[in-house]
Amino acid sequence: MAGNPKTFRLAAAGDLHCREDQHGRFREFVRAVNGEAEGLVLCGDLTDRGLPEEARTLAEAFEGLRVPCAAVLGNHDFEAGQVKEVCAILRQAGISILDGDHALLDRRLGVAGVKGFGGGFDGGTLQAFGEPVVKAFVQEAVSEALKLEAALAQLETSLRVVIMHYAPVAATCQGENPGLYPFLGTTRIAAPVDAFGALAVFHGHAHHGQLEARTPKGVPIYNVAVPLLRSQLDRKFRVLDLSTEQPPAWVEGPAASVH
Ligand SMILES: [Fe+2]
Ligand SMILES: [Fe+2]
Repeated sequence: MAGNPKTFRLAAAGDLHCREDQHGRFREFVRAVNGEAEGLVLCGDLTDRGLPEEARTLAEAFEGLRVPCAAVLGNHDFEAGQVKEVCAILRQAGISILDGDHALLDRRLGVAGVKGFGGGFDGGTLQAFGEPVVKAFVQEAVSEALKLEAALAQLETSLRVVIMHYAPVAATCQGENPGLYPFLGTTRIAAPVDAFGALAVFHGHAHHGQLEARTPKGVPIYNVAVPLLRSQLDRKFRVLDLSTEQPPAWVEGPAASVH
């Protein structure tokens, strides 16, 4: 039976950092998601080193997932230079890997996804000036913002969220070494969210940041990096009730039981 078209109970997590020998950990993760949510979003760093063997471990566990799943990649997923193979393995397990496009979970929840990039926040945002390598760095963030804009522009439903790996605001990075901020995210990837609208933004990457913040226009932002969820909430993912008629509401569940 189809769910209510105006609501969606969504599980969210980032930074799973799956290693090759962690079959049990992720089978347990999948079982817990099955029991608590109608869909799952994953905010990058799905693997620890971007290795196909790590993706295979995750994919095997996700064969047991009974709800739809959309994900973006994180910087760790690029480390081994085998992104194509990693994506193919994860897609075969039913995970929609988004990169400037969108998925429709259970034909109800629109998910626009992009990896994002660094560059810093607000007045400290890196500008495209000077050496070519600096311009290339800035261009990567600009390209990611444009991809997100395109993904959001194509989404026709207002029951929609955004997923990214990097942080779109500094507030969810607070607690990290301030020297790392330029590499944790950038304001540039927040602008499309406010221009096109979404019910919530989920990101990861800032393992030691803050759980919640808002975009300049007030869209709720949730840092769902698993190390942060574990340390602050004793949870391995978060569950959120989304509705087109009410603000998002967290659904508390059982404490994390797997390490
Ligand atoms: Fe991470
Ligand atoms: Fe990361």
